[in-house]
Amino acid sequence: MENQRPSWTSRGTFILAAVGSAVGLGNIWRFPYIMGQNGGAIFLVIYLLIIMTICFVPLVAELSTGKITQKECIGAFESVNPKFKFIGALNPITGILIISFYFVVGGWILNYICLGFSKCGISDYGNYFTQFTQAPVANCLYTLIFLFICMFFTARGIKKGIEFANNVLMPLFALILIFLIISSLQLPNAHLGLEYMFKPDFSKINPHMFLVALGQALFTLSIGMGALFTYGSYIKEDSSIAKSAYTIIFSDTFFALLAGIMIFPAIFSFGLQPDSGAGLVFVTLPYIFAQIPNGNLVSILFFFLLAAAAITSGISMLEVSAAVFTERFKLSRIKACVLLFFLISLLAIPATLSFGILGDMKIIGKTVFEFLDFITSNLLMPLNTFFVCILAGWFLKIKGETFLKNKFFAKVFDIGLKYAVPAILLGLLYIGLK
Ligand code: PHE
Repeated sequence: MENQRPSWTSRGTFILAAVGSAVGLGNIWRFPYIMGQNGGAIFLVIYLLIIMTICFVPLVAELSTGKITQKECIGAFESVNPKFKFIGALNPITGILIISFYFVVGGWILNYICLGFSKCGISDYGNYFTQFTQAPVANCLYTLIFLFICMFFTARGIKKGIEFANNVLMPLFALILIFLIISSLQLPNAHLGLEYMFKPDFSKINPHMFLVALGQALFTLSIGMGALFTYGSYIKEDSSIAKSAYTIIFSDTFFALLAGIMIFPAIFSFGLQPDSGAGLVFVTLPYIFAQIPNGNLVSILFFFLLAAAAITSGISMLEVSAAVFTERFKLSRIKACVLLFFLISLLAIPATLSFGILGDMKIIGKTVFEFLDFITSNLLMPLNTFFVCILAGWFLKIKGETFLKNKFFAKVFDIGLKYAVPAILLGLLYIGLK
């Protein structure tokens, strides 16, 4: 059975899929609004520092553990000690919980694409967004369609599905992004947005920023729910994990910066506020699209770009559970995907409805959507990242010297993997759950 595991066609397709997983709503939706809420350029400085250093360690840990064990998450932990399989199982569970709220946003994106085609003149997008997210039937339908699209590629397997989707969607994504950046930079006073992004005000620095930056960096790199672990397990040939890790980090950061360069000049050009939070993309930007020439086309392209990014990330989330179902429970891919579709719907539908008719259903004071976001970002993702560092550092004994030429950096990596990063993650967990 072991040698029937799928594998990537080449190192290039693996990197593209890993970058496709990393570049998602986290870069285009979450990063600009978190940066907007946390003081702009100064947040960027801290974020860059964290993503280039600390995050390299768990990223290498996930990819290497997958590559060394050549197993899905549960099997990989089990191969070290049968009792650890329950820890491994936290990965697909976390994945399903993340999908259940991430795909709700995917559904909103599909709705906004259709809105662009329908050319309807909405004047108050704030109001529209609130009303739309409350509509039960349309929203559930969009969430399920989004799930179906991602599932379609997962069901077709690594080469025909995942590689195909990434090979098509990622270049398209890059092209649309370049086009939108050029349009945004041509708006009057666009330079104000660039200043906001790149001129740090060191007086605004505060400890909370470090936490937010670390949480965002882990999420955007897809660390902590087994996605890169599973993708890493499909690597056959002897490619350097360190090089792959840096390519993923640089590409992800590059795309997050480009997303900022696309969004902030437009916002400042219209004299709007960059700190409006989650509504930045769904309320502020459509307002701008409605005012510019060819706004409808720009709007469709923008939401298509978001959809492409969200689909390639969504596929990687699904693959974690699909790998478990096919390898561990010996289900065919199609059966595994049908089962997953129903399982995820059970959670994604209440999450979708939590903006409307299930708004009063609260778990620890949070709506279903907020609870799923909270429990995965603040508890499960840091916890899974902690466990994978422990597994890689203490049990699989992954050493920096095997992939880093510089002795000093190799030593720093070893200390990071065994002590420093696990300690930082425990700190993140403690503060996140307080
Ligand atoms: N990295 C993705 C994004 O930025 C989200 C993601 C998280 C994908 C975890 C896979 C696993 O949107």
